Amino acid sequence: MAKKSSIPTSDFYQHNTNLKWIVLAISILISIGSIYYTNVLVEQLKQRERQQVELFARALEYTLNDESTDNILFITDEIIFKNNSIPTIWITREGQYQYRNIDIEKSWSEARKKRALEKEIADMKTLYEPIKMTYRENGVVEDYGYVYYKNSFLLTQLIAYPYIQLSVIAIFAFIAYLAFNYSRAAEQNRVWVGLAKETAHQLGTPLSSLMAWIEVIREDPLMNKNGMVEELEKDVQKLRIVTERFSSIGSTPTLKKENVVMLINNVVNYLRPRVSSKIKIEVFTLSENISAMVHAPLFEWVIENLCKNAVDAMGNSGTIAIKILRGSEGKIFIDISDTGKGIPRSKLDTIFKAGFTTKKRGWGLGLTLAKRIIDAYHSGKIYVKSSEENMGTTFRIALDAV
Ligand SMILES: Nc1ncnc2c1ncn2[C@@H]1O[C@H](COP(=O)(O)OP(=O)(O)O)[C@@H](O)[C@H]1O
Ligand SMILES: [Mg+2]
Repeated sequence: MAKKSSIPTSDFYQHNTNLKWIVLAISILISIGSIYYTNVLVEQLKQRERQQVELFARALEYTLNDESTDNILFITDEIIFKNNSIPTIWITREGQYQYRNIDIEKSWSEARKKRALEKEIADMKTLYEPIKMTYRENGVVEDYGYVYYKNSFLLTQLIAYPYIQLSVIAIFAFIAYLAFNYSRAAEQNRVWVGLAKETAHQLGTPLSSLMAWIEVIREDPLMNKNGMVEELEKDVQKLRIVTERFSSIGSTPTLKKENVVMLINNVVNYLRPRVSSKIKIEVFTLSENISAMVHAPLFEWVIENLCKNAVDAMGNSGTIAIKILRGSEGKIFIDISDTGKGIPRSKLDTIFKAGFTTKKRGWGLGLTLAKRIIDAYHSGKIYVKSSEENMGTTFRIALDAV
């Protein structure tokens, strides 16, 4: 069929979901790769910081053991004071402590400083083994104290970096995706709303001409025979309904309080003589008087579409049951059940997308329109309430009762 190449079909949606999975898989791979690589860097930097702190500890020991001031000056200047990034605290055996790169104000009281340092030390202990300092007295090695440290600011940032980066990218991608989707949906809307309006407009002229012709025929006794005018009028009436539907979907239709049971009976009475006699269409309701705010031509169109789909799903024979119910919380439900082939679970969302069809001569627009009419114009909901393969399907429309 030629049209298959020009509009999306079920294959299109299959490819589309495959593509989504591929994009997702690649994004996950990139994320894992980037986190892994940063972790390698972090490990290397950790080792280097450990070496630096060890060197620092050795330098402290050295200043203790060596008496020559020149060396001490070199060591304190080049090693101890060069450490300006790794937070370090060292405590001597006697309980004296000193620190570098720790957030402690000079103006604090001794007690407060001590509390802050003890808290830091507790944190540092959980991170890394402290480095032991020793000194030599009369050939005997004695404990001098411990150097505690934690990650430098640079290292801390590097650990967090891939997560921050990936979150920023994810948020950006998400916004871009929404914007893209929105503009695509807006464009699609313009196209088919325009097409619907144009169709209604073009149908208008021949329609009024047809109506004039009917009047001419009605006046002419030679041509007005065997209820011909009545049959013509019925067809013209149907054409007018179609035109009205097209023109209403192209603009924002105004809703009116309508008796839903009556509208549904209209559609059923129209359809019954037009489907195979082995297909039964039944309407069940507890009350003949259930109303909702609807636009009659569009609402009837939805019911007609659902019934036609039900007929298609059943093949030769079966039953369509339409139940109109008053639900709780001021809702009314219209359940349209068939005894047809059912819809696979995986397709429950896809069937509402434009162009999805499993029929040789289908356009895949019926449910898209139905959804738009119910969601956008009636602030209602339409969904598959249940479906079982080879047993049947129930579509439900939920509207606010009035
Ligand atoms: N009552 C139903 N039972 C089984 N399948 C259904 C039913 N209604 C819709 N479908 C599935 O949803 C698809 C899309 O329906 P629709 O949008 O009306 O387009 P079309 O009728 O042109 O195929 C159908 O091709 C069919 O596969
Ligand atoms: Mg259809």
